[in-house]
Amino acid sequence: MRLHSVNRLKGTITVPGDKSISHRSIMLAALAEGRSEITGFLEGADCLSTISCFQKLGIEIQTEKGSGTVRVCGRGLHGLTAPSDTLDTGNSGTTIRLLSGILAAQPFSSRLTGDASIQRRPMKRIMEPLTQMGADIRSEAGNGCAPLRIQGAPLSGIHYTSKVASAQVKSAILLAGLYAQGPTSVTEPFLSRNHSEIMLKLFGADISSEGTTATIRPGAALWARSIQIPGDISSAAYFIAAGAIVPGSEILIRSVGINPTRDGILKAAQSMGADITLENIRTDDGEPTADILIRSSSLHGTTLGGSLIPTLIDELPVIAVMAAYAEGTTVIKDAAELKVKESDRIKVMTENLRAMGCDVEAADDGMIIHGGKPLHGAVIDTHTDHRVAMSFAVAALQAEGDTKLLGAECIDISYPEFYRDLESLCR
Ligand code: S3P
Repeated sequence: MRLHSVNRLKGTITVPGDKSISHRSIMLAALAEGRSEITGFLEGADCLSTISCFQKLGIEIQTEKGSGTVRVCGRGLHGLTAPSDTLDTGNSGTTIRLLSGILAAQPFSSRLTGDASIQRRPMKRIMEPLTQMGADIRSEAGNGCAPLRIQGAPLSGIHYTSKVASAQVKSAILLAGLYAQGPTSVTEPFLSRNHSEIMLKLFGADISSEGTTATIRPGAALWARSIQIPGDISSAAYFIAAGAIVPGSEILIRSVGINPTRDGILKAAQSMGADITLENIRTDDGEPTADILIRSSSLHGTTLGGSLIPTLIDELPVIAVMAAYAEGTTVIKDAAELKVKESDRIKVMTENLRAMGCDVEAADDGMIIHGGKPLHGAVIDTHTDHRVAMSFAVAALQAEGDTKLLGAECIDISYPEFYRDLESLCR
């Protein structure tokens, strides 16, 4: 994929459905009694991996390709059946970690794996708490990574204090807690995205939250329902950054989820001087949603750290690109989690930003970006990380000369129409 600079970006777009919520909608609809209809579902490769895993677990799921509508015939909490084959979670950390929580409690054994990136990512963070609950979950190679073998077992509730603010860890434990003897609580250092808690409640689970602790009590059945999924703020982030960077731009992004556990990109961009207006604010199925209007403005450096980080963790690659175009220094700290995402995003972002002429330093827990120097096009190795690819597509929009993305098709993971939507704003 070759990209070059543009004069301005103008128009209205609708980004695809939220990836985190899409995964959870399939999982909870599968465990609910009756037929659920999901609209606004993200038909990206990650969420399709979740669908295919649940089909292998005996759940009937109908998709109408291209419509974002999915119908799931739930079989109740105890309706999953043993898979005849390995469950392939593809590139999706959310699928493998959340599904492990569910499978730990089933009366059958299963094997889960995924692509090369998934097989490098840490699974001990879920294996440890699930084992404390009584689960039999093993890393086949003994290295704490997938492939995982899970032999379902009776579970007991625990109170787990997590070292990382991770919604995948929290959700794996809460989903296992649906099946445990007694209540299960998770306390995290900072609040991570709370889509599991919101959706579990919608489906009828007995779940409550106080501060950074979520508690689930077993016993309540889940009931089928319709779910409308808002647009993914993580996908909107590329257009927020692009609209801010490219002079003369004005972009309206319709129906984006602005859950406060996910809206760090808005706060970070505003702290850099971005001109953002929220319109038509409402709540759909427990998730706050708005239209986001972004106009270009001059940007300056900022410092991002602490409790803000979990609310923008997936947006840090594109925030680093904004920082490269902002005057002054941006410090990103407390974000060591970047090293264990789809790629080591500290290393990959730093190397690629440097290739475009940016003055950037890698830190153990983030990056220091000295922005404001003009960037030039370069060959970018995306390491098949979808968020890296889209971030550098944005970086290319104001760079001198062509930018070539290697492995550009990896955007299919979360945003198959990304290049088309970007192009529509250039006309
Ligand atoms: C996700 C949680 C986050 C995020 C990932 C999606 C989820 O990961 O980075 O893209 O859907 O729960 P962690 O739980 O590892 O922070």
